[in-house]
Amino acid sequence: MNSVVTGLGAALPKKIILNNDLPDSLNTSDEWITQRTGIKQRYVAGDGETTASLSVEASRKALAMAGVSPNDVDLIIVATVSGDYTFPATATIVQRELNAKNAVAFDVSAACSGFIYALDIADARLKLAKNKCALVIGAETFSRLLDWTDRSTCVLFGDGAGALLLQSENSSRGIQSCILHSDGTGIEYLKTNGGVSSTKNVGFVQMNGQEVFRAAIEKFNDALQELLLYHNMTINDVDLIVPHQANSRIIEKLITLSGIKREKVLITVDKHANTSAASIPLAMSELGCEIFKKNNVVLLSMGAGFTWGAALIKFNTNLE
Ligand code: ACO
Repeated sequence: MNSVVTGLGAALPKKIILNNDLPDSLNTSDEWITQRTGIKQRYVAGDGETTASLSVEASRKALAMAGVSPNDVDLIIVATVSGDYTFPATATIVQRELNAKNAVAFDVSAACSGFIYALDIADARLKLAKNKCALVIGAETFSRLLDWTDRSTCVLFGDGAGALLLQSENSSRGIQSCILHSDGTGIEYLKTNGGVSSTKNVGFVQMNGQEVFRAAIEKFNDALQELLLYHNMTINDVDLIVPHQANSRIIEKLITLSGIKREKVLITVDKHANTSAASIPLAMSELGCEIFKKNNVVLLSMGAGFTWGAALIKFNTNLE
């Protein structure tokens, strides 16, 4: 049995903030942000828009694409670090809103790597026949974790959600493997300065940008090489890489180090900024049904912790 992607969907808040729309008090510029990050704009959640509401909208689109009823979904995982509540899990809100009453629902917290972590858990449960039909969602309202007076962090992030529907299928296509890694010695480089148990508030994002930049390049490439070795593949066998969308300069380094052709790398950071756990499924959704015309699709992530990982998904084995 394999876990096959049969639907995908995305949701973005209504409000777009262009680099030029950022307040003068930040003392930043479109030129600085574009040169250092590739970001041109970000979507920011407004009243009534939450991690759960964006997750629900993305999930409905994924279900509609696959022609699957919420009744048939038996697993919902939301990867997020910006859930609606400290508890319960945002996934249970999604379950209620979709009326997916046959699902088990929980959240996964692994920052920007959360989506690949969630995908791995869902894939394992489908392969063990514990579930048959899973919604795997990456969703964030990161804007609510930002100090909007700190130009070194607030310009980098955005809000959004992406969802994949996975179904068990006796087929060679689907998720081939997920590789996950963590290194807690990287905690201080990227974290919030608060938390329920430490300060009784959620805190704001704090980052040592240069250390994170170095680590992201190293971990992206390590995960890619490990995945290729495991599958006895070369970079030429890869049809598409969907990297976590943090910064176009990190992605450019990945292109140089790995030797992948630029046209095989999906870049959406200009439109969405860094949406943390949502960035990979949001980027995949930009391609819509086109993604089903690719075969070997590699997902790559790196995030706070540090956490990092990779996944190989075969969408169209007819091309082999
Ligand atoms: N606008 C204008 N100037 C700024 C801004 C801004 N938004 N932010 C920082 N600066 C200034 C700094 O104050 C500093 O000024 P100074 O020299 O007078 O002190 C100068 O720019 C250089 O600051 P650095 O932090 O050294 O800038 P750097 O070239 O490292 O770029 C950046 C910062 C873009 C954050 C970079 O380190 C980076 O890309 N890091 C990767 C981190 C990342 O993408 N994180 C996302 C989350 S992690 C993840 O998802 C994997």
